[in-house]
Amino acid sequence: MKSTFRLTDFDFSNRTVFLRADLNSPVENGRITSDARFRAVLPTIKYLLDNGAKLVIATHQSRPYKGDYVTTEEHAELLSGLLGQEVEYVEDIFGRLARERISSLKAGEAIMLENLRFSAEEVFYKPLEDCERTFFVRKLAPLIDYVVNDAFAASHRSQPSLVGFARLKPMAMGFLMEKEVSALTRAYEHGESPRVYVLGGAKVEDSLRVVENVLRKEKADLILTGGLVGQVFTLAKGFNLGDANIEFMAKKGLLELVDWAERILDEFYPMIRTPVDFAVDYRGERIEIDLLSDEKKLLDKYPILDIGSRTVEKYRGILLNAGTIVANGPMGVFEREEFALGTVGVFKAIGESKAFSVVGGGHSIASIYRYNITGISHVSTGGGAMLSFFAGEKLPVLEAFRISYETFGRKLGG
Ligand code: 3PG
Repeated sequence: MKSTFRLTDFDFSNRTVFLRADLNSPVENGRITSDARFRAVLPTIKYLLDNGAKLVIATHQSRPYKGDYVTTEEHAELLSGLLGQEVEYVEDIFGRLARERISSLKAGEAIMLENLRFSAEEVFYKPLEDCERTFFVRKLAPLIDYVVNDAFAASHRSQPSLVGFARLKPMAMGFLMEKEVSALTRAYEHGESPRVYVLGGAKVEDSLRVVENVLRKEKADLILTGGLVGQVFTLAKGFNLGDANIEFMAKKGLLELVDWAERILDEFYPMIRTPVDFAVDYRGERIEIDLLSDEKKLLDKYPILDIGSRTVEKYRGILLNAGTIVANGPMGVFEREEFALGTVGVFKAIGESKAFSVVGGGHSIASIYRYNITGISHVSTGGGAMLSFFAGEKLPVLEAFRISYETFGRKLGG
């Protein structure tokens, strides 16, 4: 039974549409380094403009005080280039400048508002009712006819631009949102066995929630770990990772998670695989260390930056025989070429496998494009949102779609 509005439900001609996208992207030296999230949202933007919408596009970029917290000026520029049509950057969010520009929009025109997190209201997580009362929503709602939300990567956030309009305006899923939800649901609910989850990266707490959920609910058959997730499970299995690495993990607050990982292992030990070797940065060079060898003492001094080749080979064998694969996060510091071997090796094996595969991890999916990896069934734009989904949590934006449909569905005959 239908429970949310789709893009094709409405006539957007001459209507003002607020499109919440997630164009939050990696930024180095003040410049955006990946256009993956821009390309992903293009079909929705094209559809809206082709159908005569007056389009207001908005996104967040990082959060206050971080190095990649920048204006959306380059976002507007990049989008204009990909679209082949100007998306005008408006240096305002809901002040008079923004409101006047929105009111003067013509059918088929698009503007990009300023980084939404320049507004304090957009930095907190609040329930929908509170989001609805923000100045952001109160000032913009009178100017908007429809809301389209295509920000899957932010769907685990309850913030004004993401959920605040749901009871005030009909809110439809964009094409990207639909594609993401349908691919992730297929992997989670209807995945063919063996169902293999690959968890890497630095979001260890979120990944532990995923492991616990998918094993308890019998949604997964095997978990392969890498990145800091793999290191926490390796410690939980009783291996020593050396002073340098343990100090680093302590600084990141990761040692506090080892007990939890141990409890998960007590219940599901054979289903959770950890790396058998690691690559460390030995004076600027990659060297690999087997966890059972004497060279292990090098881990006291040198930081682990990747999984080793023997682990990649083992994981590869498992992935090639999987029926379903869900992967989130990198195996190592893939930004440095010599430590990309683990991430690229694992992603390549996923691409070669016949399994239905979903791979995500926020900014780390950039490596998929950089190394021309093909054959993955669905590359998700989500990092934290994807983890929340597989942890079995309710995503506030998906809830908001349902609420909007309940509010307007009957009235609009949806
Ligand atoms: C992401 O990249 O995971 C999303 O854009 C959400 O960003 P956030 O974690 O800063 O809310």
